[in-house]
Amino acid sequence: MKKIYPESSQNFFDLEYNFGAHNYSPLPVVIKRGLGVNLWDVEGVKYFDFLSAYSAVNQGHCHPKIINALLTQSNSLTLTSRAFYNDVLGIYEEYITNLFKYDKVLPMNTGVEGGETAVKLARKWGYLKKGIPENKARVVFPKGNFWGRTLAAISSSDDPISYKDYGPFMPGYDLIDYDDLNQLEEKFKDPNTAAFMVEPIQGEAGVIVPSEGYLSGIRMLCDKYNVLFIADEVQTGLARTGKLLATDYEEARPDILILGKALSGGVLPSSAVMANDEIMLCIQPGEHGSTFGGNPLACSVSKAALEVIIEENLSQKAYELGNLFRKELKLSLSKSKIVSSIRGKGLLNAIEVNDSPESKTAWNICINLMKNGLLAKPTHGNIIRFAPPLIITKEELMKSINIIIKTFNDF
Ligand SMILES: Cc1ncc(COP(=O)(O)O)c(C=O)c1O
Repeated sequence: MKKIYPESSQNFFDLEYNFGAHNYSPLPVVIKRGLGVNLWDVEGVKYFDFLSAYSAVNQGHCHPKIINALLTQSNSLTLTSRAFYNDVLGIYEEYITNLFKYDKVLPMNTGVEGGETAVKLARKWGYLKKGIPENKARVVFPKGNFWGRTLAAISSSDDPISYKDYGPFMPGYDLIDYDDLNQLEEKFKDPNTAAFMVEPIQGEAGVIVPSEGYLSGIRMLCDKYNVLFIADEVQTGLARTGKLLATDYEEARPDILILGKALSGGVLPSSAVMANDEIMLCIQPGEHGSTFGGNPLACSVSKAALEVIIEENLSQKAYELGNLFRKELKLSLSKSKIVSSIRGKGLLNAIEVNDSPESKTAWNICINLMKNGLLAKPTHGNIIRFAPPLIITKEELMKSINIIIKTFNDF
């Protein structure tokens, strides 16, 4: 007989604890429903969502246009694999490449697969086009990078929580400081360097915004040394930072662009790697792919998710509301003893708590924010990221700002 669980939060905590791997430590809230900027827990309590599933829900929870694309497409065709053509993939590919002005797209599923694809593509280009000797290609990453949890991804990590006890690691990587063009140029002098892969703003590291000129400096150095600029815009892209891409701020167009997360509006995994023919056509049939990559369901959903971003002018909204958010928080909290920094771009923002990363202060503030009706999560111990869905209205944002200010002041 089917077991019916009473809808109390504790029950769901227990189920996950007893039957799921312990690879996350969620905030103690069990979400049952989401709509727009709001989430509701199993007890019916309503919250503002200031995480947006790590910026996957830029368009808001259950956006009607995206859900409609999901339902319509799922009634006719969900998956063929790439063994056959389907009548949706090409239409989506034309749409996304026109939007971002690249010759070609390679669709994958998760963000980390997008990163893997980009690194493979860069290595292949390094051998075929740059003339790097076999197996000698190097890819440079900045410290603090985060692009997922696969072995290839954690091999570039300098965070022991990500890599410790998971070696041996992927060879051919170099690490330098973020926001340091001199170190980058030194690495580029190595003729075996194929690419530099970087987040325009480091999200997981704690919303680290580089100096003005960093992104255009990367572009300039990549041109000078014939090295590919790979922008990991999985978190910063798709209007989150107040432009369609965060690299648009400096017109620093990457050679390889990685998108994910909000590419499906949080509906299903969909990522994309874009590049021009000179790079993308280095990969030949059979050399790379994924059973689900480019599936008709994800293509329909992703096209709708991109259309929502354009039709609802979410970049401009994120730009304006982000300015308001930082202005109001700085006005009220910059003198607070528990705040050491308020920073961000567009609606990707963070408050750094003036306590050690090992302290529980930021976690406890998040618990209090939750009790006051707003959900946010600490990263790296003492940094709280604030990233609401971009469809948030000015009134909803002001209400949320008041909750944040009150929670910090009461703490
Ligand atoms: C910048 C960046 N790249 C890649 C990823 C990995 O995405 P996914 O979790 O979908 O594999 C993330 C996830 O947080 C990310 O923030």
